[in-house]
Amino acid sequence: MDSKSLQHNRLVSEEISRKPDHKEGQNGDEQLVAEIMGRCFFPSLITNQAWEGFHFAGQKIKITEATESYGAVVWPSALVLCHFLETNVKSCNMVDKTVIEIGAGTGLVSIVASFLGARVIATDLPELLGNLQYNLRRNTKMRCTHEPQVKELFWGVDLEKNFPRSLYRFDYILAADVVYHHPYLEELLLTFDHLCTENTVIIWAMRFRLEKENQFVDRFKKLFDLEVISDFPSLSITLFKAKRRHRVKWSLNTAS
Ligand SMILES: C[S@@+](CC[C@H](N)C(=O)[O-])C[C@H]1O[C@@H](n2cnc3c(N)ncnc32)[C@H](O)[C@@H]1O
Repeated sequence: MDSKSLQHNRLVSEEISRKPDHKEGQNGDEQLVAEIMGRCFFPSLITNQAWEGFHFAGQKIKITEATESYGAVVWPSALVLCHFLETNVKSCNMVDKTVIEIGAGTGLVSIVASFLGARVIATDLPELLGNLQYNLRRNTKMRCTHEPQVKELFWGVDLEKNFPRSLYRFDYILAADVVYHHPYLEELLLTFDHLCTENTVIIWAMRFRLEKENQFVDRFKKLFDLEVISDFPSLSITLFKAKRRHRVKWSLNTAS
């Protein structure tokens, strides 16, 4: 692994261990967390191309990281979401479902959803799309029924133009670790709202960090019925399922 990858991996694992009240055996979720985190493996040989490996949906997945950005690494929330999709194929059946992932980063969640049979559109900021496309193609080409698509989605920007409601009706919206110290929380809410029909199910893994960001959950609850699927205190991650309550006229002016 090159020094940049090592640095990224350190960033993610440091974030897990930084949680102040985390002590061995205290949270009761250690076994499941170890099972989820154990899906990660690293190349046994150092080659000129760095990647991280994961086992999900019976497949070996190789993820190449992007240049330095929050979307450059696979965050623990993504592993939690992948594990949920893999272990809940009956209650959350992906076969032939239309799925959009927002803030897809390196693409691991979209790849796993594709292996489970979904028609996936993986979205993120423009600078992430090259690496995202690379990971999706490398892992899914000729290996799943519907090869995933990549599309730019800057939260809150040109939503109706790029994702007209008349054309895009998603069964699922997937999101892993999209709430953190960025200035686009209202736009993120607008994006969830725009992409949701009355039947869309949101599966969202949220890493709890700072109070200001955590308040996003309360704003989210005004628009969506939110249900906790599972909780991982060791990781400060909660996995939520949500459906839209009812459509209200929503704008940036009314969002605060
Ligand atoms: C912490 S990373 C999580 C990446 C991936 N979901 C994971 O869990 O490994 C947050 C992701 O949100 C994306 N993001 C941040 N702000 C965004 C915005 N305004 N519009 C679209 N995507 C954004 C970042 O590019 C990044 O891929």
